[in-house]
Amino acid sequence: MDPRLGTPSLDRLRKRTSEKWRAYPPDVLPAFVAEMDFDLAAPIVAAVTAALAAGDCGYAYKGELGDAFTAFAEKRLNWSPDPSRVFAIPDVMTGIVVMIQALTPPGAGIVINPPVYQPFFYRLRFADRRVVEAPLRRADDGRYDLDLEALDRALAGEGVHAYLLCSPHNPAGRVWSRHDLASVADICLRRGVMLLVDEIHAPLALPGAHHVPFGSLDHEMTTRSITFSSASKAFNIPGLKCGVAVAGSAEYAAAASERWEALQGGQVGVLASVAAFTEALPWLDAALAQLDENRSLLSRLLAEQLPDVRYVPPEASFLAWLDCRELGLGDDPAQAFLDRGRVALSPGPGFGVPGLGFARLNMGTSPELMAEAVRRMAAAV
Ligand SMILES: Cc1ncc(COP(=O)(O)O)c(C=O)c1O
Repeated sequence: MDPRLGTPSLDRLRKRTSEKWRAYPPDVLPAFVAEMDFDLAAPIVAAVTAALAAGDCGYAYKGELGDAFTAFAEKRLNWSPDPSRVFAIPDVMTGIVVMIQALTPPGAGIVINPPVYQPFFYRLRFADRRVVEAPLRRADDGRYDLDLEALDRALAGEGVHAYLLCSPHNPAGRVWSRHDLASVADICLRRGVMLLVDEIHAPLALPGAHHVPFGSLDHEMTTRSITFSSASKAFNIPGLKCGVAVAGSAEYAAAASERWEALQGGQVGVLASVAAFTEALPWLDAALAQLDENRSLLSRLLAEQLPDVRYVPPEASFLAWLDCRELGLGDDPAQAFLDRGRVALSPGPGFGVPGLGFARLNMGTSPELMAEAVRRMAAAV
């Protein structure tokens, strides 16, 4: 492994005290929640250390965050958002929910594409919004696509005000094409809904894939969109509580400005995110190379030890969506992997009905620990 990523041995990792390392007893190998086992990028450690040494832990100030994110987006995503339209948020889900509450009425229908990131369901419900499902289409080869007809039908429904698109998609691992996004934009415009785009996994597009930021499209719908991103997933700092919302219009920017207090993130997270976006790109490249290797290694490991599990390597990020229906482990195979193999995956049913019989494996680790996870899964079968 690249030395910048460290050597994630279990002895070292068990010194961590985050949820990943304490949710299960010590004999369980955790491969569920979406955080990586790599060491942090040195510029992030330096920024956080300097903040602590200076007692710089007060209320967050956006400071250089807008410029830092814009510079990152220009360099890595071929997108030039206006820094004044970039807002600091505590995390992507809070940003999404606060903006949905600002811009849609109570009880509004919000369309999502299951199987999809679990909090899309319950955070919208907690916010008194109605989840309207337009499931992804799954081809025989296991690859997912947007089902534009289902999306159109869902957006035409009574009381539907918005579409929450996950791009790249967790857990399907898809990076949507410019053509996909333009089709989505046409449908949203026709149906008169606003669009919230969760691009938290965008910096983790893997070799061969090209993420297109929705805001970079030349389409009227960009002014009716808000994009959410973060350094938290790509640079592995979700505990520092900082993300960004990029408002597509002055109206949306004003709504975000007005809610500055609800959207205030962590001061140390802002500083760490600035360091990540501006100084940690070599670390990100090292992480991407490792994740690319891991997704191929997983294909080989599954072919050898669990040939009945179907897996399409993701085009972005470090989450493997595993079709375990042939294993005969019921609706929630993660439970059997946990009980009998002592390895914790994310249960597929949490991602919606299309997740029954599936489980999600976290590949953001060393090849050795990934091999150990597969060995334990195979032992459970
Ligand atoms: C699609 C998606 N959105 C949001 C999040 C969570 O981000 P945050 O902690 O910034 O809310 C995740 C975490 O895995 C995710 O996969």
